[in-house]
Amino acid sequence: MNITGKTKLCIIIGDPVEHSLSPAMHNAAYVALGIDHEFVFVASRVALKDVKDVIRAMRVMGFRGLTCTVPHKIEVMKYLDKIDPIAQKIGAVNTVVNENGILTGYNTDWLGTVIPLEKHGTLKNKKVALIGAGGAARACGYGVIEKGATLTIFNRTVEKAERLAEEFGKNVGTGRDLSLLHEYDIILNATSIGMGNHEGVSPVPKSSIQKNQIVFDAVYSPFETQLLKDAKEQGATIIHGTEMLLHQGTEQFRLYTGHEAPESVMRKVLEKAL
Ligand code: ATR
Repeated sequence: MNITGKTKLCIIIGDPVEHSLSPAMHNAAYVALGIDHEFVFVASRVALKDVKDVIRAMRVMGFRGLTCTVPHKIEVMKYLDKIDPIAQKIGAVNTVVNENGILTGYNTDWLGTVIPLEKHGTLKNKKVALIGAGGAARACGYGVIEKGATLTIFNRTVEKAERLAEEFGKNVGTGRDLSLLHEYDIILNATSIGMGNHEGVSPVPKSSIQKNQIVFDAVYSPFETQLLKDAKEQGATIIHGTEMLLHQGTEQFRLYTGHEAPESVMRKVLEKAL
């Protein structure tokens, strides 16, 4: 441990938060870059009603960074000095940076979608099927549209998909029939199906996955979901949810420290933990 009187504090808040891999991922990265005397990253379980007090503490105590996870990403926006235009558009903040007392909110979740996908080629004019219309889907959808893909949203509650499509604007449609997913270049799951009570369940019929497709699951626990297992068996290219977790984190790391993140170190932490 290399903590001194000058070490800056970064905190992740959520409710619950004990499962979070952010502290392990960021602290390993600090060590790898030899900046673990400058930064330390911890987690704190905070009730939604107390987010306001956390922001006050951040100002008074001068924390450097505040990472927000479920259910705090919308609530925190009320108390900040500035909101980055992308975070404003997505409607959620997962990263707060304290720059000499000015607190600015950012959203790096969308990069968690875009960076892993772009490793497999441009998103321009790609047809993306997004499953889900909740908080995670908002960031995923924003990201692929921003990079020039055409988006179709599928969701259990169709009206929610329609509302989100309308909000995203022109060229965004909604779909109902999951058996037509073979028509898309990329299938992206942003629902909670595949984890917790839904472990072993896939949101998509296996038969509608083709080998020329990319299948990306935002669920990272279990490491390989039923959707990804099916996609692999169908010969599709798969992207694990850990990549999303990793790349929202690499961008966040850059915002907090000003350094490029050591991606492979951070990936190893996630893979080991999961
Ligand atoms: P998050 O912030 O993790 O995205 P959320 O905003 O509650 O959480 O969104 C959860 C998403 O998973 C929604 O799209 C939800 O569908 P509904 O809008 O119909 O609720 C989807 N989802 C959750 N459980 C589901 C299930 N059993 N079957 C289908 N969709 C499900």
